[in-house]
Amino acid sequence: MSKNILAFESSCDETSVALLKDFEVQKLLISSQKIHNEFGGIVPELASRIHITNINHLTDNFFQDSEIKKKNIGLVAATQGPGLIGSLLVGYNFAKSFAISLDIPFLSVNHIQSHIYSCFIGLEKIDFPFLALVVSGGHTLIYTVEDYFQHTLIGQTQDDAAGEAFDKVAKMLGLNYPGGPVIDDLAKDGDENFHEFPVSEIKGKDYDFSFSGIKTSVLYFLKKNFPINKPNEREIKNICASFQKAIVKDLFKKTFKAASQLGIKTICISGGVSANSYLRKTFTELEKNNFKILFPEKKYSTDNAAMVGYTAYLASKFSKEFKSKIKCSLFEQPFPRLDMKHKHY
Ligand code: KG4
Ligand code: ZN
Repeated sequence: MSKNILAFESSCDETSVALLKDFEVQKLLISSQKIHNEFGGIVPELASRIHITNINHLTDNFFQDSEIKKKNIGLVAATQGPGLIGSLLVGYNFAKSFAISLDIPFLSVNHIQSHIYSCFIGLEKIDFPFLALVVSGGHTLIYTVEDYFQHTLIGQTQDDAAGEAFDKVAKMLGLNYPGGPVIDDLAKDGDENFHEFPVSEIKGKDYDFSFSGIKTSVLYFLKKNFPINKPNEREIKNICASFQKAIVKDLFKKTFKAASQLGIKTICISGGVSANSYLRKTFTELEKNNFKILFPEKKYSTDNAAMVGYTAYLASKFSKEFKSKIKCSLFEQPFPRLDMKHKHY
């Protein structure tokens, strides 16, 4: 029998609610917080306060113009982490209270897992194994995914995440936050060979990343070449294209190396940076060499509740640990969280 799943996401600055009928998204609302633009990055305290207002409005709107009645929801799911703790607490506790008050089973969902599975939203089942590259504002991770909810971490950033580097370089160039989509746009008209920005290698760790160096090299490049006047429009476009090329080539090189060495022919790239057009083009080239390359639909690349609901669907259908009879209690942690090291958590 099909199940209506109501899902919530609030791990960073997006508040989102989604409704799925099993693996199919019926409705998705996302509210983004513009205020962080003024600061060139997320202000966690502001983010959690805005979530409090947004989540009430969003859920009200959701049910006002929705066919679905609350009593027909079979499962509630929410992002448990990793993410900004204040932001997480708002969405997670709202969702849990919603479930408790209506006596609906509740499921905690891991944010990284939901990014990974966002590549498959709309599919009833998934073919394994595949390699997953998760590239977002807080994470740069490579996993082998052997089966449902069986992941092995094989590479990660040692410092900044790729999205963080996009955001910080955008800030140096005086561009808006989040910087990734702005750089992506400007780079389309830029010369990617304008300057070669170096990306660090990690000795002995072929699948690990380091993006703090490239950030510094952009800063020194700007100080040296534009000590007084800011770069003009053309120069900004060229810097964006050169920086984007350096980051994407590095993501590609290490992911491709991992896939080749491990003999995995399917690569799924998810997280906010997976919306990047140059990245999509670069990875898609691999299809000529018999690789299968999967991305989420662009609207599912950045944080959204549809991926949370879809992960909950997969858990309820395929996870051995999921007990469909689970009743919500304030103290239970019904979903096995992956133990993932992350500095923001
Ligand atoms: O997955 P996400 O919404 O949040 C986290 O879990 O961190 O990712 C947000 C990140 C931001 O750093 C943003 O600049 C980046 O994804 N991003 C992009 C693009 N769209 C979003 N980076 C590069 N190109 C894009 N088109
Ligand atoms: Zn995310």
